[in-house]
Amino acid sequence: MLAPVIAQGGGRVKRMDARAARLQDAGMALPPPLDRLALPVIGAPLFIVSNPALVIAQCRAGIVGSFPALNARPKEALDEWLTRITAALGPGDAPYAVNQIVHGSNDRLQHDLDVCAKHRVPIVITSLRAPGEVVRAVHGWGGIVLHDVTNLRHAQKALEAGVDGLILVAAGAGGHAGTLSPFALVDEVRRIFDGPLVLSGSITQGRQVLAAQAMGADLAYIGTRFIATAEANAAEAYKRMIVESQAADIVYTPFFSGVAGNYLKPSIAAQGLDPDALPSADKSKMTFNAEERERVRPWRDIWGAGQGVGGIAEVLPAAEVIARLKADYLAARRRLAPPGAA
Ligand SMILES: Cc1cc2nc3c(=O)[nH]c(=O)nc-3n(C[C@H](O)[C@H](O)[C@H](O)COP(=O)(O)O)c2cc1C
Repeated sequence: MLAPVIAQGGGRVKRMDARAARLQDAGMALPPPLDRLALPVIGAPLFIVSNPALVIAQCRAGIVGSFPALNARPKEALDEWLTRITAALGPGDAPYAVNQIVHGSNDRLQHDLDVCAKHRVPIVITSLRAPGEVVRAVHGWGGIVLHDVTNLRHAQKALEAGVDGLILVAAGAGGHAGTLSPFALVDEVRRIFDGPLVLSGSITQGRQVLAAQAMGADLAYIGTRFIATAEANAAEAYKRMIVESQAADIVYTPFFSGVAGNYLKPSIAAQGLDPDALPSADKSKMTFNAEERERVRPWRDIWGAGQGVGGIAEVLPAAEVIARLKADYLAARRRLAPPGAA
């Protein structure tokens, strides 16, 4: 279990207190660099939406900030993004992560990995394929690999490939969500793996971060909440739709990318489609090739979001979102502490 390290007050993490707080907490600490967070949270990578401003704000507020390498376009921009992020972050900030889509249609993968090697990116988040060669490359520069999975079989394959931690994408997550209950998924994977486990799916409140830890995960992985932030690269109408939506406004469909994902129904209706009567789609449509992704419109016009939208009431700066998560997390810990405990 993670020993949570909570820095009081907004803004940057106060590292001086962190070590002491960690030592006070019983339980297994996470490996570096995950051991220096102000809150056990990773800001999840969001196609199109994540940008350096969001990542920097997340890391400065003490959670892992991340972005998909494919968001930096053209590919030469990735070097600039990483230069900007590393220049903005100091030793007291949380580490950042880069998401790599390991799929045949991602024709940038080798280029993007070379740029990550140049910057010795501390955390690489891999999606889709279990990435043996990627793991070896990242370990070569001293980074760690977290791989996202939706079921036990994929978790096993990723562990065989040597990943350092697993991200469990449960039902209700934004983007290409799984279908399993987080209770079932965390429990099954925890039985075969005692390393870092990150849980995702509809987490928008600090008390849910504590719940993720209670059920056996170490960290929470939060995506949709960060779309409705000042820094996010998303249309104002998208942010507003998230604020105005409830879980019932989310549809889970393979129609747009060939793989089932969660999307905002009003954004589908706005394109002239009936979100409650979409035909099923075929997996061969899935592509991460830059040109083909330019042509297809999911993510840009059909807006992705998880079922946690009902817990998002305002567009806020990311630092404020994280400060509120932290306050709610601490309040939940106090509420659940046994009588007489500090
Ligand atoms: C708009 C959007 C884009 C996403 N893009 C990516 C991506 O490029 N790579 C990836 O690994 N996950 C992607 N995801 C999934 C998130 O990283 C994360 O698993 C998910 O948002 C967590 O669930 P939540 O949104 O309910 O918090 C995306 C999710 C959304 C909502």
